[in-house]
Amino acid sequence: MKILITGVSGMLGSNLQKVLSEDNCVFSTGNSNFPEEPENYMAFDLKSNSYDKLIKWSNPDLIILSGALTNGNYCNENPTEAMDVNGLSVSKFINATDKKVKIIYISTDAVFSSKTHLAKENDCVSPESVYGKSKELGEFFLNQSHREFCIIRTTIVGLNTNSRKTSFLEWIVNSAKNNEAINLFNDVTFTPISIWDFTEEIKHLISLENLPKETLHIAGNEIVTKYEFGDQLLKNLQIDRTSIRKGSITEFKDRAKRCTDQTLNVDYYQGKFNRTLPNIKKTITSIKHHYHEAHKIR
Ligand SMILES: NC(=O)c1ccc[n+]([C@@H]2O[C@H](COP(=O)([O-])OP(=O)(O)OC[C@H]3O[C@@H](n4cnc5c(N)ncnc54)[C@H](OP(=O)(O)O)[C@@H]3O)[C@@H](O)[C@H]2O)c1
Repeated sequence: MKILITGVSGMLGSNLQKVLSEDNCVFSTGNSNFPEEPENYMAFDLKSNSYDKLIKWSNPDLIILSGALTNGNYCNENPTEAMDVNGLSVSKFINATDKKVKIIYISTDAVFSSKTHLAKENDCVSPESVYGKSKELGEFFLNQSHREFCIIRTTIVGLNTNSRKTSFLEWIVNSAKNNEAINLFNDVTFTPISIWDFTEEIKHLISLENLPKETLHIAGNEIVTKYEFGDQLLKNLQIDRTSIRKGSITEFKDRAKRCTDQTLNVDYYQGKFNRTLPNIKKTITSIKHHYHEAHKIR
């Protein structure tokens, strides 16, 4: 299958590119060139008015939309750009491609409000941030289309291939190694899944004869606070934990609003597709394996 993946200069996209290239012909794109960029990579700005060049070049059967502006503060300060890159781009891909081209859209827990605990696929969305609203817009366009599609809401953690980037996980590890004190929220809960386990689920979905034309929640199946996650991560990597402290989201009043409850309910996906999603132990094991393998933390 010919697959076009967006966001390949980012954390998830780079891993999707690596793994899916084993069995497919993958073309990839991101907003910038980077030292570790793979073959068949083209820098392309999703704010462009015409996507013809990108589609002609890659001629995909399936597009995986992982590219997005993911910095909540930046989205808040630049709402028009966030809506364009994260939301409108979906409409542009639909208009630029033939009806038979399938689309997978990576969405987020941020489409829900803090009042929704363990959000289910059919719970009402009510984003509290510009980032969440922009992803809701992307979902809207795909739901209105007549495509074979799948919208996947998730909460991912992982390492970057792009040496110019730092993920949440890398920030925790680097800070601890450098003995820099950081506060991790002990009043924000989430259900993280590693990018490696998540990619296995994408592999499973694209192996099906047809994509399920629906929204799925694919995340970890266990709830932790951000602090508990950092604490368990460092403990398992045998890195000194004294520099991480329990913090509260209420201390960060000037930041973009972020939900205190970011948990997703994964029962529907696990039941329908007979898949077992990872608990926190498995997620940390997966991170540990890739951390040691890649020696990637900078
Ligand atoms: N990370 C999370 O916690 C999380 C949680 C839930 C859902 N998600 C979703 O998962 C997906 C992947 O997230 P991630 O963490 O891998 O993101 P990331 O590391 O921030 O990467 C974002 C990617 O999008 C690209 N991008 C940004 N603006 C663009 C533009 N104008 N034109 C073209 N490409 C552009 C970036 O390109 P450059 O770097 O070259 O600018 C980069 O390749 C996103 O759709 C995100 O909404 C992420």
